[in-house]
Amino acid sequence: MFVTFEGLDGSGKTTQARLLADALARDGVDVVSTREPGGTPLGDRIRELVLHGDHVAPWAEAALYVASRAQHVEQVIRPALERGATVISDRYLDTSAAYQGAGRGLGLDTILDLNLVAVGGLVPDRTFLVDIDVETALARVGDKGDRIERAGAEFWPRVVDAYHHLAARFPERYVVVDGRRGPDEIAAEIRDHLR
Ligand code: TYD
Repeated sequence: MFVTFEGLDGSGKTTQARLLADALARDGVDVVSTREPGGTPLGDRIRELVLHGDHVAPWAEAALYVASRAQHVEQVIRPALERGATVISDRYLDTSAAYQGAGRGLGLDTILDLNLVAVGGLVPDRTFLVDIDVETALARVGDKGDRIERAGAEFWPRVVDAYHHLAARFPERYVVVDGRRGPDEIAAEIRDHLR
């Protein structure tokens, strides 16, 4: 099973990805936890370039995330799924659709299609959207964020709308959880859902 976590920066999705991985591992499930951008040595170098460099042109940004993802799928995700492991990824292609496609205005479908080609059509079985509003997210992240987190005010509402659009469009894999509650409550809901 391939599970991904999505949401705004500050949504708490990283905590949820970890809590789910811990719970499954305690149940004896073979779990591979990973994240994007990153997850491979090449991906970690791309992460450094794209998050901590100077200005990156929107299409360069989209292409770097796609490159990181293609490597991640070939080196980590597919091999793990093939041996029967459960893969939990903190962000995957929906992040690019929402952040680069909608947030940066490159086109949600264009970015989604580009990503689908790059990953050979590998779509998650479940995607948990940890849903919070922009104000809460920005308050949690503060102004110390990375290059993406410092995007202009018009960026975030577009990202949130794109996530809601994706959830409505792919109901067979999307589960939207209310991220304004405490982490344990959210984690319990996610575990119940997977059971
Ligand atoms: P994330 O790992 O969630 O941030 P943190 O290091 O704070 O846990 O994601 C890093 C940033 O990269 C985040 O602002 C979202 C952005 N991002 C994209 O814009 N597109 C992508 O395809 C991915 C994977 C991440």
